[in-house]
Amino acid sequence: MLKGTNLTLRAVTRDDLPHYVEWFSDPEVTRHLLWFLPVNMDVETEWYERQLKDSSVLNFAIVITATQKHIGSVSLGKIDHKNQVAELGIVIGDKTEWGKGYCREAIRLLLGYGFNTLNLNRIFLHVFTENIAGKKCYEHCGFKLEGELREATFSNGKYINHYIMSVLRREFLSK
Ligand SMILES: CC(C)(COP(=O)(O)OP(=O)(O)OC[C@H]1O[C@@H](n2cnc3c(N)ncnc32)[C@H](O)[C@@H]1OP(=O)(O)O)[C@@H](O)C(=O)NCCC(=O)NCCS
Repeated sequence: MLKGTNLTLRAVTRDDLPHYVEWFSDPEVTRHLLWFLPVNMDVETEWYERQLKDSSVLNFAIVITATQKHIGSVSLGKIDHKNQVAELGIVIGDKTEWGKGYCREAIRLLLGYGFNTLNLNRIFLHVFTENIAGKKCYEHCGFKLEGELREATFSNGKYINHYIMSVLRREFLSK
């Protein structure tokens, strides 16, 4: 369990899954995500069970400490122990909690865990170029722009470019 000023990151539980069904069924939430399939409890249960057995993925539920409200999910995936690299993903699924700095706090907590506990060296992510809030949040957290993938995803009737961003352990620790 990771604790910040306002947020706690804890293991995902089965009781959290209905929230994932709600969030991943909302086009406003999935607009900037690679996810595009319909979800129900069967899909989420299958995902939950699969990730429990997958040592290359770590998923955390994002919870507001004061109220224990579950507002989102943040993850490290494709964990590569040889090269000490992982990919970060985040969703603040509860739209009423957008714009309150929770993305920033959750990512900083996860970066601390990734670099100081998992001994990672590079944490990277993909963000759609039109995801202004996401890009801004990652920049605040120290991610640097590495490049742009052209027309990497087809979504909502058009091709979308992705930025690739990353932060290195030495950069994170020097802040
Ligand atoms: C992207 C997302 C994680 C941001 O979470 P959040 O908690 O609202 O983000 P924060 O409040 O920490 O910070 C977002 C920043 O973007 C800014 N922002 C938000 N919407 C914006 C907009 N439309 N235009 C410009 N800036 C915007 C905020 O003001 C804030 O910047 P500031 O700290 O300089 O004021 C959240 O909106 C989300 O989960 N969206 C759906 C899924 C998603 O896009 N995930 C990321 C995939 S890469």
